[in-house]
Amino acid sequence: MVEQVDYDQLEPETYQRIAEAIGEANPVLDIGCGEGKLANFLATTLGKEVRGIDISDFKLVKAREEARAQGVSHLVQFMEGDATHLNTIADQSFGAIVNVYTLHELEHPFKALEELRRVLGAGGKLVMVDFIKGGKAEKIWGERYYTPQEIESMLQEAGFSEVAMGFVRDDVIFGSWVKI
Ligand SMILES: C[S@@+](CC[C@H](N)C(=O)[O-])C[C@H]1O[C@@H](n2cnc3c(N)ncnc32)[C@H](O)[C@@H]1O
Repeated sequence: MVEQVDYDQLEPETYQRIAEAIGEANPVLDIGCGEGKLANFLATTLGKEVRGIDISDFKLVKAREEARAQGVSHLVQFMEGDATHLNTIADQSFGAIVNVYTLHELEHPFKALEELRRVLGAGGKLVMVDFIKGGKAEKIWGERYYTPQEIESMLQEAGFSEVAMGFVRDDVIFGSWVKI
């Protein structure tokens, strides 16, 4: 039986791979940041300036508390927002964008990808991690996931070109793209 804890165990490796994929890029947007674990990790370990955005404001309370506790409030800013309407953010504001376990939750994923492309700077990477269709996560949460092919074509259509695509585990993809 697969448990949530199986996915929690992937976190150190996933975060390390994200850090490697984004390299020197700064600032970083964490879209669908949830309770801000990744954003705070990028600030504490790499000194990145991170904007965490999530549609759910109650998760951001915890995210801000953690940023304060970890002494990175000056680097990390959490704000409520919808990935499909980043109206307050100027074009090309970020050096990299991370999107972890969020694509499948977006009501309008294609529209969100177009918005992410708009706010990503030239040559910047979009790094994405998500569960895939037909995997074990589906048995636990039963949400709507995409196949790697569907993810790839959505990104291509939204104006991204693949840098690398692989897996953290058999049912968790890890990919990075640049905007064309
Ligand atoms: C499964 S959680 C992942 C959270 C975090 N990235 C992590 O790895 O723990 C997905 C997150 O996406 C957020 N979300 C869903 N739709 C969104 C949208 N349209 N814009 C921004 N965030 C959204 C949810 O509120 C939730 O916090």
